[in-house]
Amino acid sequence: MKFKILVADDEKNIREGLASALEMDGYEVYTASNGDEASVFINNNDIDLVITDLRMPKMSGNDLLKHISSSFPTIPVIILTGHGTIESAVEAMRDGAFDFITKPVNLDRLSLLVKRALSNRELVLKHRMLEEEVEKLGRANKYSKMIGKSSQMRKIFDVIQQVASTKASVLITGESGVGKELVADALHNLSNRKDSPFVKVHCAALTESLLESELFGHEKGSFTGAISDKKGRFELANKGSIFLDEIGEINQSVQIKILRVLQEREFERVGGEKTVSVDVRVIAATNKDLKKEIEGGNFREDLFYRLNVVNIHVPPLRERREDISLLVTSFISEFSDENGKKIEGIDSKAMSALYNYSWPGNIRELRNCIESAVVMCRSDFIGIDDLPPSVAESTEGDFIRIKPGSSMSEVERLVILETLKRENGNKSKTAKILNMGRKTLYQKLSEYGIE
Ligand SMILES: Nc1ncnc2c1ncn2[C@@H]1O[C@H](COP(=O)(O)OP(=O)(O)OP(=O)(O)O)[C@@H](O)[C@H]1O
Ligand SMILES: [Mg+2]
Repeated sequence: MKFKILVADDEKNIREGLASALEMDGYEVYTASNGDEASVFINNNDIDLVITDLRMPKMSGNDLLKHISSSFPTIPVIILTGHGTIESAVEAMRDGAFDFITKPVNLDRLSLLVKRALSNRELVLKHRMLEEEVEKLGRANKYSKMIGKSSQMRKIFDVIQQVASTKASVLITGESGVGKELVADALHNLSNRKDSPFVKVHCAALTESLLESELFGHEKGSFTGAISDKKGRFELANKGSIFLDEIGEINQSVQIKILRVLQEREFERVGGEKTVSVDVRVIAATNKDLKKEIEGGNFREDLFYRLNVVNIHVPPLRERREDISLLVTSFISEFSDENGKKIEGIDSKAMSALYNYSWPGNIRELRNCIESAVVMCRSDFIGIDDLPPSVAESTEGDFIRIKPGSSMSEVERLVILETLKRENGNKSKTAKILNMGRKTLYQKLSEYGIE
């Protein structure tokens, strides 16, 4: 694509001189001899950049600049100023000019300035396009704050639509920070239970005995401190949904009680005789491998099958990097608003670092990273220096540097170490990727002293 530039100056020599220089740089150039002519031209044509003199007949450069800033804020304007009228240039910068250049024009400097202005404009346009996409997504599913366009996420949106209105229990699995809670929110908000309570229980945050009375309630005097009857979360969620977060952390006796709720829709309060029946849709989440917990005797198999009627697995961010640009755009808008900043986008180097980083903390980590970048950022664009060092270092992709002349065992050690890191310490995955047996991997790990 050829960028289109408009040069406005009342002096014929200057405007034609600049035009031919810019044409040699490969741009499509138009000219106008006064502000009025320029403004009409801009109103009727798609222009990427305007270079304008300040003092011109009919409409001055200042007024032209003001018109562009208010009606076409993404078009950068470069100001030409005559002999030492630096004050008017400063004023123009305040009115939104991209930069100024003094006459006689140094063509090399102009060429650089134009390049910089246009690359900024490209970033702005890219950011705007992504913003529109985010907005469209938001409008398309207004019950969910989930953003994503990868095939994996689209499949998840489909499953949510399909099962939300059913009563089937759903088990949401995935690493920490992938968005399991947002999936749970969407399931409730899209169901016909959406106007009834949605009760969330963070199972890992409560001690065993507290969890039981939290979930099922207790009768007055059932234990010291139980000074009155108390309804449990299952009762509070009646007619609605309950979200059991970190279900992998609960002990056997609570597991049995939950199993009974799932099978018979009833239970007794702690210390109570009366049977309580409830109508509750159960959604659970875990970042543990429950199959492994079953093998290890920590989790009941029958409960697993009752919870896992529908499984929604949310893949880690590094397996769906197509979602990164949309997420980044949405987080930039969110945190710019929150911090009263006007960030126009992110430059390509910073974007490439975000794209290449492995995101062990998934979307939560990406969100925090963008929040701090927005706060740190001192220009209109987030740059590589605004990112935390660990992220900024990943511009080159996941490559290992190997010095020629290294021993084979050193190379092996590095490959194992870096793969293990990338897979977050998952040894069976690492062994599979490196095509070696688990036993061999363990031997090598101890041989190389890798923890
Ligand atoms: N697809 C998404 N679009 C926008 N924001 C997301 C998305 N997925 C996750 N987030 C955001 O990332 C953060 C972490 O998400 P969430 O709490 O749902 O993760 P989680 O899987 O429940 O993590 P954990 O296992 O640690 O509880 C939240 O701030 C959430 O809003
Ligand atoms: Mg969570």
